[in-house]
Amino acid sequence: MTEITDELVIRGNHIKNRIVMPPMVTFSFHGDNGSYYGKQHIEHYTKRAKGGAGFIIVQATSVFGAVDSTGMWSAGDILALKQIASNCHGYNAIVMMQLHCGNLDINELSVEDVHSMQRNMKQAAIRACEMGFDGVEYHFAHGYTLCKFLDASYNHRTDQYGGDVLNRSRVLTQVLPEIRNNTRKNFIVSVRMGEYLPESRDGIEAAKTFEKAGIDLLHISFGMQPPTNPVPDGFICSPITYSGCKIKKEVKIPVIAVNEIRTEEQVRFLIENDYVDFAAVGRGMLADPDFANHVINGEPVNTCLGCERCFWFTDSTFCPAGKDE
Ligand SMILES: Cc1cc2nc3c(=O)[nH]c(=O)nc-3n(C[C@H](O)[C@H](O)[C@H](O)COP(=O)(O)O)c2cc1C
Repeated sequence: MTEITDELVIRGNHIKNRIVMPPMVTFSFHGDNGSYYGKQHIEHYTKRAKGGAGFIIVQATSVFGAVDSTGMWSAGDILALKQIASNCHGYNAIVMMQLHCGNLDINELSVEDVHSMQRNMKQAAIRACEMGFDGVEYHFAHGYTLCKFLDASYNHRTDQYGGDVLNRSRVLTQVLPEIRNNTRKNFIVSVRMGEYLPESRDGIEAAKTFEKAGIDLLHISFGMQPPTNPVPDGFICSPITYSGCKIKKEVKIPVIAVNEIRTEEQVRFLIENDYVDFAAVGRGMLADPDFANHVINGEPVNTCLGCERCFWFTDSTFCPAGKDE
């Protein structure tokens, strides 16, 4: 039986347990002196690393600006992000950065637009590596730009970026060799994606395509829309979480499942039954920065109350479960 505290090695990176902090933009946090990232972010991630999360994925960061050091790639941002990576390592957490390509209409992009985005996608990974991050996660989920490339019902391109799954994943797979050539040998490249794209078989096909291209890790959330299919009897997590379990059966690379995982029972259920390799706990870890240590030590968790709209989207100080940052 797999234990929550069993180490898992990805590309030489030793991940000390199976509890992941998924990417979450902390909307009420500000950077310092005009930067996007700052002291609040550093404290926020350091607390979760101290709280035992084995694997931390820093929030969606736009790739745009990576080539010319603007936007989220300014000097002040780099300083803060470097500190986040270093502090997480201080608590033996592996730390990646989620890379985001905005919410563009991919059917309207010229080939030059796609190439320009790819240059930023590559440069962002190289810079994350230079800042001390252990890897990057490309955000192919939740209906955003990269998700639209992957979804066969949305992508109507007739060039090399539309059509079959090789073409729909090419926006990343084409630049992967250059990313590998310009980052450390053990730098993790991961994809966050959905399983229904728009059918389950499409998600499975895309997952296998990424695996074959050399992606190290898959983080399964949802694609253009959340799945509505019911879960099997006795499965105590959500349909989105079940999507991760379905992909896990189809690939050999590690898989993270996510969504509404809030209790020790659910984490144990997923990991100890080998449904997936990692359980990501988002709002649960916002409500309780020590979530991972509490679960590992069998201590009570300060449980997320599952508000209709999470207050961390607006002002985290209103989180009824949180003790505020
Ligand atoms: C405040 C907030 C910000 C989020 N920001 C991101 C993000 O930057 N990138 C992303 O892929 N998902 C984002 N998500 C989704 C989470 O990563 C996660 O998939 C979702 O909250 C479901 O997991 P949970 O039920 O454990 O919270 C965000 C969620 C919340 C609540």
